[in-house]
Amino acid sequence: MSAAACLESHLRAFHSLVDEHRVPAAAPAFRSGGGCPGCGCAARGSDRGMEALTPQDLDNIELKRDHSLRVLDNGRLIAEDLGLAGDALRTALLASLWHDAGRFPQYRTFRTFHDGSSANHGLLGVRTLRARGLLDGEPPAVRSATIMAVGLHNRRDLPRRLPPLADTAVRVVRDADKLDILPIMVAHLDPSAAANAVVVLHLERDPERYSDEVLAAVLEGRVGDYKAMRWTLDFALLLCSWVYDLNYPATRRAMRERGDMARLLGLLPDLPDLRRAAERVRAALAD
Ligand SMILES: [Fe+2]
Repeated sequence: MSAAACLESHLRAFHSLVDEHRVPAAAPAFRSGGGCPGCGCAARGSDRGMEALTPQDLDNIELKRDHSLRVLDNGRLIAEDLGLAGDALRTALLASLWHDAGRFPQYRTFRTFHDGSSANHGLLGVRTLRARGLLDGEPPAVRSATIMAVGLHNRRDLPRRLPPLADTAVRVVRDADKLDILPIMVAHLDPSAAANAVVVLHLERDPERYSDEVLAAVLEGRVGDYKAMRWTLDFALLLCSWVYDLNYPATRRAMRERGDMARLLGLLPDLPDLRRAAERVRAALAD
């Protein structure tokens, strides 16, 4: 059976995980800080998980379900372009599907996707996969590399030396993740779009304000720091800086062909510093 075909059981398990987090937590243990009763995986100390989920909450959860499935598609595209096979292909695909497993307990517990004010969703994902035994049927090498890739996928910088299986998988996931997040964020950062504070990480909206620190990162060819963001334009600039952190040619190609980075640059107001930043980003993507 091909690596992709035997993902079917994982896809079923993935949908179960998401569906279980579409209902509020009910166990008293949750209120007393016992963690998410659905999977025993969430961070402790919040009882928001017991509150009813609003239609907006359900939409936010669906956003992450759809995102995970599209990251799987992107991961497959990149893995095939790399010619991955066997355990390497399987690990890359599993890590792509499960990379945001932590988002579901995170959202139910804290009602935000902002790690800084809740919990690191990469680590929550590792706890979720372990607590539910979601990778128990996998060969040990695939299991441990997938867990490592999920735990590291959202780190600003990767450790220098990783085991090869994990290294490739986490790089595939990071690229696949960026390819998918970009159009979503472009849609939400468009000034004419309805505001969704959760998606734009509760940043302040202003048509022209941005932070010098985030701009400097783009101009200097560095990836911006989430912690330096204050305005929604900072988020747009930070997304621009992702062109410096793409691992594989297939990702760069897809980003160019899909036109999402060009659309993002089109959202920047016409200011001298931002024009310079846009030029730098265009040149980096063309390389
Ligand atoms: Fe993530």
